[in-house]
Amino acid sequence: MFQLAKKLQSLPPYLFLEIDKAKRKARAEGRDIIDLGIGDPDQPTPKYIIEALYKAAQDPSNHRYALDQGMPALRQSIERWYKRRFNVNLDPNLEILPLIGSKEGIAHFPLAFLNQGDYSLIPDPCYPPYKGGTILSGGKPYLMPLLESNSFLPDFKKIPLSVLKKAKIMFLNYPNNPTGATAEKSFYKDAISFARKHKIIIVSDLAYSEMSYDGYSPSSMLEVEGAKDLVIEFHSLSKTYNMTGWRVGWACGNEKLIAALAKVKSNIDSGIFSAVQLAGIAALDGPEEHIKNMCSLYSERRDILISGLNSLGWQVNNLKATFYAWIKVPQKYDSIKFAGMILKKADIVVTPGVGFGKYGEGYIRMALTVDKARIKEALNRLKNI
Ligand SMILES: Cc1ncc(COP(=O)(O)O)c(C=O)c1O
Repeated sequence: MFQLAKKLQSLPPYLFLEIDKAKRKARAEGRDIIDLGIGDPDQPTPKYIIEALYKAAQDPSNHRYALDQGMPALRQSIERWYKRRFNVNLDPNLEILPLIGSKEGIAHFPLAFLNQGDYSLIPDPCYPPYKGGTILSGGKPYLMPLLESNSFLPDFKKIPLSVLKKAKIMFLNYPNNPTGATAEKSFYKDAISFARKHKIIIVSDLAYSEMSYDGYSPSSMLEVEGAKDLVIEFHSLSKTYNMTGWRVGWACGNEKLIAALAKVKSNIDSGIFSAVQLAGIAALDGPEEHIKNMCSLYSERRDILISGLNSLGWQVNNLKATFYAWIKVPQKYDSIKFAGMILKKADIVVTPGVGFGKYGEGYIRMALTVDKARIKEALNRLKNI
């Protein structure tokens, strides 16, 4: 009797829900599963952030509807953070919009600019909501392959003019999920002049800006001169402060793009729980030490995983940002079969690359979200597959 809307029918099932199902089933069978599947930090949220939430939650003035555009104090804290971290000036009243997690903002953003049949230029493989948000807005994804031969950067020259004429948004995400690739400022400059020429908005997803190793510090696209003419950048507190469940992030950049997203959201949600916003301020204004410790924890895990896989003969590239290893599967397998075989034979969950898009075929993703002993155990089990 009930027919799903065509747009919804055309969306594939959300990959991580499928993996979760397989994992639960394996656990229900009593198997000792090592989960390298989802990019969800295993460490707790720092105590000073939890304490800020606890205090704020006790104040009845925080129990009411929050302002749609976020507390001024949170926007000011984001302004300070951006200035400190990237030396970029933002107007907290016009150029910053707190979000209920960055996924929410990323998925809603296309509603503000796509008309039926307009294109979004989407890297492939990618974080799935770029495609989902585009399709739910009536737009069409145009896939920009991220190939190892081009350092997992899109090749703008390959996009046909007929597509560019109808393209309104381009998504970029560096440090990149799932490939772990990074982009230099020169790439950002090229992307901005290309987008300017073709009148395309750039969505820069910077969810992993704070997760980097070996002295590498990712840039914001807004550091490039003129970027504010056409860039909206999305950030998340999720990975930086182990706050995935809390749902808080923000968008910043061009004021018209921010206002348009705020208009969409004012019709859909009623803001972030004020106590979570106050905890967000505690996070952003808190000690830098936390981030240093987080990066050294992941880089130790990375060293064990990458050198361990290489000594098993897997030939895995090192990564200098994100907590994802992007690993080629042996030629006789596709990524789903290989991931299935690893789950069956080694009780290890990994993510098949094709779940991030067709150009992710031939790879699996492993997340550094278990401790060193479990990584060693995983390597041990992989010896025998
Ligand atoms: C590239 C990328 N962007 C955005 C997000 C969303 O983060 P959140 O909605 O938790 O802020 C994620 C989460 O995995 C991600 O990988």
